[in-house]
This record gives sequence, C-alpha cells and structure tokens, in this order.
Amino acid sequence: MTVDASRVTALSRYRVAARERLIVALDFPSLAEAAEMVGRLAPVVSWFKVGSELFTAAGPDAVAMVRAYGGKVFLDLKYHDIPNTVHRAVAAAGRLGVVMLNVHIAGGEAVLRAAIEASQSLSGPRPLVLGVTVLTSDETDVGAVVKSARLARACGLHGVIASAREAAAIKKACGEEFIVVTPGIRPSGWPGDDQRRTTTPAAAIREGSDYLVVGRPITAETDPRFAAETVLAEIESAPRADSWRAR
Ligand code: C5P
Repeated sequence: MTVDASRVTALSRYRVAARERLIVALDFPSLAEAAEMVGRLAPVVSWFKVGSELFTAAGPDAVAMVRAYGGKVFLDLKYHDIPNTVHRAVAAAGRLGVVMLNVHIAGGEAVLRAAIEASQSLSGPRPLVLGVTVLTSDETDVGAVVKSARLARACGLHGVIASAREAAAIKKACGEEFIVVTPGIRPSGWPGDDQRRTTTPAAAIREGSDYLVVGRPITAETDPRFAAETVLAEIESAPRADSWRAR
C-alpha cells in the first residue's frame, strides 16, 4: 500500500468515487471477528477504521489484516498526550502503513505540530493527520468546532473529524482542501444509538463531508455487504453541492 497523503488530499477537489468516501468502523473485540467482516466487505469497501477496541485487542495485526485484504486503514486512536509521545506514536503508526490517523485538537498547538512533523519525517508514505474536534456523541455549537478546526489548520493538519452539521462552516473557514471526516452517520430509519449529532449519508455529502465513517449501520446488519452497498448508492446519488461556498 503506497497511498501518499498528498494524493488523497487532492481527491477532495474532484468528484470521488463513492467507495473512496466510505470508511467502515471495525469496532470488534477480536481480530477474527474483524477479519471476517473485512473479508465480507473488501469487494465493495476500500477504507476501514481500526479504533481503540480492536487495536487494544489485536494490536498492529489488525492493521496488517486490513492491508492484506487491500484495504486502507484509518487508525482512530485519538492521540492525546505530551508532544514527544504523540510524535513517536504518529511515527510508529505511519510505519505500520496506516493512511489516516487522528489526534485530539484539545492537546494544543505543540501537540498538533508534533503530530504533523512526525508524519512528514517518515521516509515512506506519510499518513494524513486529522484532528478530533468534538465527539459526535456530544452536543456542541458550530462555533466551537470551527474554532478548533482553525487551530488544526493553522498547525498544518490535513483535516478534522467533525459532524456534517459543521462541515460547511469548516470548509468555509479552512478551505476546500481541508478534509472533513464525519462519523455519526445514520441511514434514514436507523436509531441514533449513542450518537447525538447524526446525519444521513446523503446529507453529509451534501454538506461537504469528504469521508463518512459508518460502523453499526453496516457491521451490525445481517447482510453487511448489502448495507454497505446501500450506503454507497446513497453517497453516489447525493449531489455534492459545495453549498458551503454560498454561506
Ligand atoms: O457505529 P457507529 O457508526 O456509531 O461508529 C462510529 C465510529 O466512529 C466509532 O468507531 C467511533 O469511535 C468513531 N468516532 C466517532 N466520533 C468521533 C471520532 C470517531 O463516533 N469524533
């Protein structure tokens, strides 16, 4: 896997195939269960998210497993520590071959700069470094999210994790190239679970989100591949209006 961050960033400018926008969250307690899901989804899904649960249970093997299926990994460990530790963690993640990872913007400027510097110092492909604004399980106001996105942008991060409700305002404040990754996606008819700031796939695309993270609405379904294809069809048919330009 030799996806270069600069190439992925550039994708946001063009009409991107729906499967380039969908990231399936592998929230599983074991490598075996995650691998079973990736095996079912890999024919239609390109991106998988490895988060705290799976990485704690399976470690770097989880990343290697997704890569062995030809998938791209978003390592969602939300680093929040002193700058030196975050620097070293980002470098270690990069060496595993992850394409995207994240740090808490609340860690502050020195941490954000350490994270991006670590990515840039890698000799191989450099992972995209995204900042976590406010978790989509919390309520928040758009202004607070945009403020933290601005800080991330100023420190050189590639983008942020934010709900679609803030995507348009973030694009307006930080520019089209600045990536917005949106979890808390719920196809119509799905319950919100523990998420608060939820949106449908079509609404997220319309608002300017570049990547959609979808977990349970795909992985908890009896036919996850069909569920993924349904989400992909919704992404594909959603008009990407760049509506943030007019605001
Ligand atoms: O199952 P569901 O679709 O709610 O999964 C959402 C995924 O996105 C979870 O793995 C969660 O940890 C992650 N996430 C989030 N909010 C963030 C960052 C990541 O919900 N701000």
